[in-house]
Amino acid sequence: MHKSDVLIIGTGVAGLSTAIHLAMRRPTCSISLVSKTNKEECNTRYAQGGIAAVWDLKEDDLNKHIADTLDAGDDLCDEKIVRMVIEEGPQRVKEMISWGTRFDKSPNQEYDLAREGGHSEHRILHYKDVTGAEIERALLDKVAQLPNVRILEHYFAIDLLTQHHMGYNITRVMDNIECYGCYLLNLQNLKVETHLARITVLATGGSGQIYKSTTNPTIATGDGMAMMYRAKGHVENMEFVQFHPTSLYSAGGENPCFLVSEAVRGFGGILRTRRGEEFMHKYDERLSLAPRDIVARAIDSEMKLSGDEYVYLDCRHLAKEEFIQHFPNIYNKCMSVGIDPMTSMIPVVPAQHYMCGGVRIDEFGRTSIRHLYACGECTSSGLHGANRLASNSLLEGAVFGQRVASHVSECIDQIMLNEQIPEWDTTGTNDPKEMVLITQSIKELKDIMSYYVGIVRSNVRLKRAMDRLHLLYTETEELYNTSTLSPQLCELRNLITNGYLVTRSAGMRRESRGLHYTTDYPAKHPFLEDTLL
Ligand code: FAD
Ligand code: SIN
Repeated sequence: MHKSDVLIIGTGVAGLSTAIHLAMRRPTCSISLVSKTNKEECNTRYAQGGIAAVWDLKEDDLNKHIADTLDAGDDLCDEKIVRMVIEEGPQRVKEMISWGTRFDKSPNQEYDLAREGGHSEHRILHYKDVTGAEIERALLDKVAQLPNVRILEHYFAIDLLTQHHMGYNITRVMDNIECYGCYLLNLQNLKVETHLARITVLATGGSGQIYKSTTNPTIATGDGMAMMYRAKGHVENMEFVQFHPTSLYSAGGENPCFLVSEAVRGFGGILRTRRGEEFMHKYDERLSLAPRDIVARAIDSEMKLSGDEYVYLDCRHLAKEEFIQHFPNIYNKCMSVGIDPMTSMIPVVPAQHYMCGGVRIDEFGRTSIRHLYACGECTSSGLHGANRLASNSLLEGAVFGQRVASHVSECIDQIMLNEQIPEWDTTGTNDPKEMVLITQSIKELKDIMSYYVGIVRSNVRLKRAMDRLHLLYTETEELYNTSTLSPQLCELRNLITNGYLVTRSAGMRRESRGLHYTTDYPAKHPFLEDTLL
């Protein structure tokens, strides 16, 4: 049994920001950060475009960033939260810089601000096209200087500890569920360890791996949302799955798909059909820089009309040296697969990219379960509504990380450890005989979600998905109850839960809004409010 004052599950921008702020405010608090693989491996590390923050007050102002965020969110953002995040954003970015994060500057030593879809101004701070890796590096370096933070790598969080583990019956309508920490699977020896904490924070990232094509790394299996749902906490807005319009097309399929940043379109890249014709004017006056939901649907529609497997992103007219300077990672990747972006168009296709829904939180990252906070992509904070504005995600992780830390540091002294939690019980479990069953079920889940719950949905497709998910769920629960744990089995279980939550939420929304488009209700409903699970 392990004990910490605060247990933070996740070492991306959200988890690291929480740990840094908390450790600085409360140097005597013991803080454990958990990562299911290496501490660097997370969505944050792959972020390309950058972090949106109003920086140049001569050209930009907070209200414009707020308006762009609300517009992208299609009337489902919480305006109070949007204002709060955008107002606090520049301060969080300044802190990142003070902790050693580098952002590109132009020759006059001002920060070089990029523009992406849905933004009315240039306001994206970036480090070449590898901003996330730079932020992750700097935050990990900062954490390493804080003696009260330790990182547990290769520990897989399985389930949140609540009264359920002390034999009480817990239901979703109860408002006094408490969290006492987490069961963690030690991946070195495959033993489950009980980790007690006065406060637990979920910062587990997204769930892109429920789809066949995703830009998310393989760790993105929605574990936080699934643990929350199993613990009977509130999860919402899961129907709003963001597909990025431009991942690099690969005939054999790659997991993850390589992202071609929206910043490339901000830099002048133009979308064209395989016949070389522009098409975005048919869909939105902002052309290739319309918000992501519109561009992804436009590409999907063009591909369906033509039967093509991809469209093109044309960068041939852009200045070579500047392109390479801004996008070295994208340039090198294209060259490595035989595409010179300066002489050939880049084949691109939409891929799942971001989960707008998740664990419902308030302005301090508090969840519906006591002593449990959450921040980052695993949450539904009200910032993104029905569609996230580009580069608002790193910002959200940084702002909510600080807010969770400030609230926790105020209330932690009133919370005691609960030492009555029993150790994990392995009775009746054996090593699974056929691991291939797990791999096959993951493949089936991805097929179901991609064919029936993708960019365009319908009642018939959702019903079909639900029926098939039910079968997968039943088979997997049986396997789970009789098998010794493996990370693959835990991930399969979590993926199915996420697939179910997305499909069920999609079925409940009887309108098309933001990222949720259904042929049965093609229009936006004037009165429908957000649905809660
Ligand atoms: P993550 O960074 O994903 O971290 C999750 C952490 O949780 C990891 O440490 C993982 O090990 C841990 N974890 C998960 N489950 C478990 C478990 N069961 N047990 C233990 N640990 C667990 N956003 C922007 O704002 N700007 C961009 O330019 C941008 N570009 C992007 C490009 C790509 C290719 C991708 C994939 C995303 C991009 N995003 C961008 C989105 C953004 O990167 C993510 O939303 C954000 O980084 C999420 O941060 P996070 O801290 O919430 O989660
Ligand atoms: C990108 O660089 O296009 C991704 C930006 C984001 O996801 O916010």
